[in-house]
Order: sequence, then structure tokens, then C-alpha cells
Amino acid sequence: MLISAVNTRIPRVSFSEAHMNIIDPLVDEHFVVLTDFITPSMCTALLNEAEHKFNQNKFKPAGIGRNEDFHYSEMRRSDYTYWLNFQNQNKYFTEVYQKFQNLKNLINKELFLGLFTEEFHFAFYPPGGFYESHTDSFRGSKNRLFSVVLFLNEGWNESDGGALRLTKKDGSSLYILPKSGTLVGFLSEEVEHEVCLTYRNRWSLTGWFRCRE
Ligand code: OGA
Ligand code: MN
Repeated sequence: MLISAVNTRIPRVSFSEAHMNIIDPLVDEHFVVLTDFITPSMCTALLNEAEHKFNQNKFKPAGIGRNEDFHYSEMRRSDYTYWLNFQNQNKYFTEVYQKFQNLKNLINKELFLGLFTEEFHFAFYPPGGFYESHTDSFRGSKNRLFSVVLFLNEGWNESDGGALRLTKKDGSSLYILPKSGTLVGFLSEEVEHEVCLTYRNRWSLTGWFRCRE
């Protein structure tokens, strides 16, 4: 009696919704897709900012590998990136950064992943762009633990290409269109993924959460 009386007073709705929508898929499949992670106006603001930086020639061709292994490989990926600094940015950046912090805190609380630092870049794939199948972190080398890709493209159709293809645990593929506001989050070491050939300019904000070095 006492227990149920206490339970009715605890507002558990947001907790269980987050569990159902975010934590359960991560436990079951190692990835999660959230179609309305940010509002359309936030999306437009981020897209405008990305296009602005691109027009100022701030984007660089993306490479493969780290430090002395770093090299360019047009055979493997053909996007351009611009690394973000969330400090001293406009209010949209503060809002989206806060959303990523909330996601990180939820994952740490529920899955004990120990996500600590994060890094984000804008990515741009011109028509003809792609990124061949890969994982974002080598198993066992503790660096990138959780990846997020937030899409910024308004009015995307299947015929525009550019899907993010995830390889599921059973070996089948899931194709996610890069529609504005959609966030895909996944365990960096576990989930193989690929950016399929795009026929249209394709913009995203991509990030990685790392554990304490
Ligand atoms: C990456 C990546 C996916 C995307 O940058 O590692 O997989 O959809 N990006 O932009
Ligand atoms: Mn990747």
C-alpha cells in the first residue's frame, strides 16, 4: 500500500520515456534513431552556420586515421569537415550543446559508459560524396565510445541518396535518410556504418564522446 502511494507521487514519465526511446534501443541494438532531436528553427540556424563557414573556406577535406597514421583517401571518404568550438557561440549552439550534455548524462547514468569529453564537427558531402563502411573506433583502443550524427537537410527524399547505412547485429542493413532534426547515436566500437553516395549537398553535425584518457 505504502509503496504504491509513494510511486504515484514520483514523476517517472520522463525517465521511462527516455528509457524506452533511448536506452532500450541502445541496449538491444547498440544504436538509436531520434527523429526530432532538435527543433526546425534550431536546425535552420545550424545549417546557416555550416553554410556560412563553408563559404568562408573553413571546411577541410576529411582524412582517415589519427596522428602519424592520418592521411587523405578520396577512395574511402569524400566529405569536408569543420571542427566546432561550442564556446562563445550563439544561443542555438548553447541549446544544442545542452541537449548533447543531457544525452551524455542519461547514457552515463543508465549504461555506466563513462562518457567524459566530446568533440564535434560539421560535415559536408557534395554530390558524389560518400564514406565507405567503417567503425569510428578500434575495438579495445579506448577512445571514441559513443558517436552521434545530427542531420541538417531540409526536404530530403529517398532519390537524393546519401542514406546512413547501419549494419545491424543480425547482419542486415538499416538505411536512415539524413533528414533535418534526425539524430543517430551508436556505440562507436560496435556499429559499422556507411554514408551512401549522395546526389545532393548533404550536411550534418557529427560528434564523438570519449572516456577519460
Ligand atoms: C563519420 C560518419 C556519418 C554521417 O564522420 O565518421 O560516419 O552520416 N559520418 O555523416
Ligand atoms: Mn563514422
